[in-house]
Amino acid sequence: MAGTWEVVPPLGTCVAPVPVSDETPTVSRETPLPQPDPEVIARQRMIKALGLTESEPLPRPAGTRLVAVANQKGGVGKTTTAVNLAAALTLLGQRVLVIDMDPQGNASTALDLPHESGVTGTYEVLVGGKSLLDAVQVVPGLPELWGVPASVDLAGAEIELVSQVARENRLHKAVQTYLSEHETAHDRLDYVIIDCPPSLGLLTLNALVAAQEVLIPLQSEYYALEGLSHLLGTIGLIQEHLNPGLTITGILLTMYDGRTKLAPQVADEVRTHFPDRVLDTTIPRTVRVSEAPSYGQTVLQYDPQSPGARAYLAAAREFATGQSPVTVESAARSVSADESIASDTAEPVAEADVPDTHVTDITDITDIPDQTDAPRS
Ligand SMILES: Nc1ncnc2c1ncn2[C@@H]1O[C@H](COP(=O)(O)OP(=O)(O)O)[C@@H](O)[C@H]1O
Ligand SMILES: [Mg+2]
Repeated sequence: MAGTWEVVPPLGTCVAPVPVSDETPTVSRETPLPQPDPEVIARQRMIKALGLTESEPLPRPAGTRLVAVANQKGGVGKTTTAVNLAAALTLLGQRVLVIDMDPQGNASTALDLPHESGVTGTYEVLVGGKSLLDAVQVVPGLPELWGVPASVDLAGAEIELVSQVARENRLHKAVQTYLSEHETAHDRLDYVIIDCPPSLGLLTLNALVAAQEVLIPLQSEYYALEGLSHLLGTIGLIQEHLNPGLTITGILLTMYDGRTKLAPQVADEVRTHFPDRVLDTTIPRTVRVSEAPSYGQTVLQYDPQSPGARAYLAAAREFATGQSPVTVESAARSVSADESIASDTAEPVAEADVPDTHVTDITDITDIPDQTDAPRS
């Protein structure tokens, strides 16, 4: 058939003949065979293990969503949520940038970004006036995910920024400039996720001024809600004076251990107070989630089939679409996930160690103007 015109059904268009070459390609022993890209293979494995298909990405948001992951309490899962949510969104076809705003640099470690003192990162952007473009690194193993590292130098920023002009606007300006530069040079980013430090100082303030949305991780444990009133009060002040569009778009229950009496009680209590904002997806407490950063990986890379990885994937879907993942299938999956947590990956929690039915009194937060009425963007 070569050399003749043919009609291709069903469109009936004429297709030009493909030129046929008589020359056979020369392959010598020296010709190197194309090597598979290990990053591509690792990504394909991850996608397969998570049961995803490349052809079913999530729809991209109408504009870049700027999300601060904030809670002034330490150890509630901010960093774990920031990096795993970012990785999950990337695997769902989104283009994501993570900005590490914590001088401890835990997000940088989890994403395997060099962040020793002197490496250009958030400190240089906030205090040194450098462009975010100079600080952005590609996250190894996760194409379409970028990160801005934080070194210990950032610890000085809280004090150094005090004397600077527009000190709470620094990150906002840098992000806005970067977004327009990035859009011109590449494609638009879909998410910018900012990992906040465990305080309500100038670093968190910068994050909340730069962001449009706040995602609050709450540890599903005793005292989970303590201090939330302070955070909500701060968000209220920022809305009033600095960033009127700031909205709480998600509260994520982390380190959830369904085998304890306390975790469901805390979850119920939080859902009662924030009925529209608490994600249906909860993140189980599992060893795999806590092990992953020591390998410079997110849990989605470290063990994509683990309950923690699946939970973060479900949380990302829910956060991105605003739709609850509670379908028959995911419910069944979460039951089996619970079983597998109980059987091998969960840290044993003695019932006796768990405080009894008492849940932290959160009446102190009910008189704060409701921050959660604004619609999800
Ligand atoms: N779902 C989870 N299961 C087990 N350990 C977790 C989970 N989420 C977080 N951790 C661990 O809890 C600790 C605190 O989490 P992290 O994300 O660093 O909190 P924050 O950023 O709020 O201080 C870390 O050691 C982390 O590995
Ligand atoms: Mg952290």
